[in-house]
Amino acid sequence: MRKMINVALPKGRLGEKVYDMFEKAGFECPSIKENNRKLIFENAEKGVRYFWVKPSDVAIYVERGAADIGVAGKDILLEYKPDVYELLDLKMGKCNMAVAAKKGFVDDRSKTLTVATKFTNIAKADYSSIGRDIDIIHLNGSIELAPILGLSDVIVDIVETGSTLKENNLEVVEKFVDISARLIANKSSFKFKCNEIEEVRSKLTNQI
Ligand code: PRP
Repeated sequence: MRKMINVALPKGRLGEKVYDMFEKAGFECPSIKENNRKLIFENAEKGVRYFWVKPSDVAIYVERGAADIGVAGKDILLEYKPDVYELLDLKMGKCNMAVAAKKGFVDDRSKTLTVATKFTNIAKADYSSIGRDIDIIHLNGSIELAPILGLSDVIVDIVETGSTLKENNLEVVEKFVDISARLIANKSSFKFKCNEIEEVRSKLTNQI
């Protein structure tokens, strides 16, 4: 018998595009488009149950097995290194992880560099790879404010269109990782629901 697959989708614009991809791949669940406060949607016939999850929490649901598979940004996978399988690059939600600063900023290497970011681990790894001493300031959003208000010298953040930087008179110093949405799987689900998960992977591959 076909086993039900629990799918954690990232709530928001990217998640809607991801759902459309699942729908085109044959895993539709029409009720998901009718109600925007409900968080769980199921199509028993197709063997799928979707959850809308905060994007940065998808990997946790999948790692802990509350969801069998999910879609998470490579930024989250690099930052939190969850113990999951990364099955497929969906080639959507493309952006870059970048260092940015006020226009004309020049790094004075005789001083500790202050870096504001949501991505503490990614920033530490990037600067330690070049042997640069930094002081991390962890923020949860509106990172672009930090260099403007003198809270930090630079930021490490996601740049998609570049308009947030531009509108705040900041510029990219260096782009250092390509980011996109990835299909991930819980390790034991991948064993016990192997056929079902492989079917999802193969049908999604045909949609890319
Ligand atoms: C993200 C990111 C940048 C912005 C980049 O913020 O942190 O601020 O998008 O996109 P752009 O290059 O197309 O302007 P998000 O919208 O997630 O909000 P946040 O301030 O809560 O981080």
